[in-house]
Parts: sequence; C-alpha cells; structure tokens
Amino acid sequence: MPRSVSFPLRRDHLEPTRQLEAMRAAAPVTRMRKLLGITIWVVTGYAEAKAVLADTSTYSNDMRHLLGSRDRTDAETIGGLGMTDPPDHTRLRAVLTPEFTRRRLQRLEPLIDAIVTETIDGMEQRGPEVDLVSTFASVIPFRVICELLGIEEVDRDAFHRLGTARFDVTAGGPGTFGAATTSREFLIDLVRRQRAAPGPGLIGQILRDHGTELDDVEIGGLADGAFLGGYETSASSFAMSVLLLLQQPGHWERLRVGSDAEVNAIVEELLRYLAAVQIAFPRFARHDHDLFGHRVARGDVVIVHLLAANRDEALKPGASSFCPAGEHQSHLTFGYGAHRCIGADLARAELRAGLRALATRFPELHLAGDIDTVAFRELSIVYGIERMPVRLWR
Ligand code: HEM
Repeated sequence: MPRSVSFPLRRDHLEPTRQLEAMRAAAPVTRMRKLLGITIWVVTGYAEAKAVLADTSTYSNDMRHLLGSRDRTDAETIGGLGMTDPPDHTRLRAVLTPEFTRRRLQRLEPLIDAIVTETIDGMEQRGPEVDLVSTFASVIPFRVICELLGIEEVDRDAFHRLGTARFDVTAGGPGTFGAATTSREFLIDLVRRQRAAPGPGLIGQILRDHGTELDDVEIGGLADGAFLGGYETSASSFAMSVLLLLQQPGHWERLRVGSDAEVNAIVEELLRYLAAVQIAFPRFARHDHDLFGHRVARGDVVIVHLLAANRDEALKPGASSFCPAGEHQSHLTFGYGAHRCIGADLARAELRAGLRALATRFPELHLAGDIDTVAFRELSIVYGIERMPVRLWR
C-alpha cells in the first residue's frame, strides 16, 4: 500500500506521525489521492470527527458501498454492527445491548479479577523476564472475550489463531478480508453447534432470547463484531498503556497506591491519549454534501482519525500531552453516536483491574532492553505492540 495512502494507519511508536500532525494543523479535513478510483477524505480535527460520527443520515457504514455487492453474507456479517446501517443496525444492536448492561458487567467483574490473578501468577512463574504481550496484554482480553461469548476451552486455540491477522493490513485488503471470512465462519459454525444446546455466554443467551427470529449468520456476525471489537483493541491498549506508564513512574505508583478514582482517571487518560483504534469504521457518503467547506461527492469514503482528533489542541490546549491529573478530557477513543463502542465499559473494567494488579504485583517492572527491543506493529487499523520484553523485578 503506498505510503501516501497508508499513513493514517501508521504511528511513531505511541505518538501520531508528524505527517498526521501536520495534516491536522493545515486543515482538519483533507482530501487524499484516490485509491482504486475512490476519493478518500481524512478527518483529523476533533469537532469535525465528532460531526461525521454523529451523522448517520449523511454517512453509511455499509461495506457494500465498497464491495459493490448486494449479497448480505458479503457485507453485513463482516465486522457485525460496525458495518451495518439502520434499520438492521438498530435491530441488531438492540439484541446485543442487554449483554453489555452494567448489571451483566458486574457479573463479569469477579471473573475478570480471577483471569487477571491467574494471568499474573503465570507471569510470575515464568519471570523474571517475559514478553508482556504474549503473557499479559493479549491473554486477559482473549480469555474475557471467550467467557463473554461462551467459547469452550477445546475451541479456544483455533479461535486464537484467527485473532491478529484480521487487523494486520500488511498483507493487503485480500489478507484482511480472508482472515475476516475465516473467523466469521468459525463463529457461525459455533452458533450452529450451540443451537441444539445453547451454552453460557453471549451466543447462548442470544440463541435463547432471539433464536427464532435471527439466523446463524446474523448471530455469528454479532459474535464476530464483539470479537473484532473486544480482543485486539483491549490487548493493544494494555501493551501501550504499560509502555507509557513505564516512562511515567509516578503514575505507575498511583496505580498501586491510589484511590479507585485516581486509577479510573489514569485509565481514562490512557484511553484518550493512546486511542488504540486509529481510525473509525469507514463512512461512505450517501449523497453530495458540504463537509466543513469541502465538497464531498456521493460514494466518497470519509476516514475519521480518532488518535488525531483526541490530540487536537483546538479542542483543548494541552490535548497533545498525557495528563491524568487534569480535568477529564473528552475523547473519541470509543467513537461517538449510533456506532459508539458497545464494549467501552467492559474494556475500562479490564484495564482497571489488569493494570492495577500488574503494578501492585510487580512495582519494579521495567523494559528488559532498550526501546528497540519493543516490536511495534507497522501498519494497522488497531495500532499495537507485537512484542515487549520486560523484567518483572530487579
Ligand atoms: C480499549 C478497547 C476498545 C476500543 C479502543 C474500542 C473502540 C471502538 C471504536 C472506535 C468503535 C467504532 C466507532 C465507529 O466507527 O463509529 C467500536 C465499536 C464497537 N466495539 Fe469497541 N473498542 C474497545 C473494546 C471493545 C470491547 C471489549 C467490545 C466487546 C466485547 C467491543 C465491541 C464493539 C462493537 C460490537 C462495536 C460496534 C458498535 C456499533 O457499530 O454499533 N469493543 N469500538
């Protein structure tokens, strides 16, 4: 993918690239060169990003605009809700919402605590030097998502292999779509098997409540969206958060000894500052319109850059710095409007429990080598760290 088109998917370690910063400084809405004949706009300003995300009558999330297919199985099932428009989106989101209420999340919390403790015990046994990504950052979200969906132990290895490939766009569009198709099929098959005996977890619950009105493909698509939304995103947020906090010993210490409110403030600021999901789902212009002084044509693609928007100093001076102690700053890390992340509170719960426990058990945790030993993902919708060797104690 040429750099002139792929740069919104790049990052300079934890920071936005200079190119992206320069783009926002020049104009919060920019027209890029065409890709496959489609005009692409990149939105980097906070106010502009929020306006696009809020406007479902001007923008569609339906991938069929890109794939040129009217076949439902090609489009609506890839990525679940995130690539679906009303009225299907409204209907399907209503099916998923009860699984993410506070009450349901409260039931998951002891489970998250148990997963965190087991994970950290495992690290301690392997220490003093471990890879933080494979022993911690990706373990907790994977196990939580398996519990949430109701995926049995025997199926977890196969499911795990499908995780990373779908966000890694180095293999190009076909690679990503190929991985998406395989994991979607895996989940559709799981729904098919659970139909006879609905298991515990989200898939079983949806089958019990809506099994007659939704088919296997629709339920598989919803589960796929939760997997897509909930695994890589939280794993990446964990790894980047730890790396940032290792450079901020005061905040690392606060995680251990601070009040719940302080820990919540640190986690919220980490979410804002690091914005693991670099860009929102692509928006397709439904008709010709004006976008903050630019003429956008029907069929154009609008890319909302969440990291750039979160660090927009036009929203608030200081937005480009990490500052948990200040007044809580608004952010678009979980999107905004109809497609706002349904798992935001689950992600927060995982990060709070995981980071606090890690800092408490390993107050001396530090990078095993210099920053060059940390392997960053080069090009990805969900930015992240592939490998991060750390020492758990001195
Ligand atoms: C730190 C972790 C997470 C981040 C940064 C994140 C971020 C996002 C973003 C940016 C969007 C889409 C916004 C848009 O294009 O309008 C989204 C949507 C979504 N997320 Fe998350 N997410 C996280 C965790 C989770 C978790 C844990 C789950 C579920 C288990 C989840 C499930 C979803 C779903 C189903 C959608 C689609 C919602 C819709 O289109 O109506 N996410 N998320």
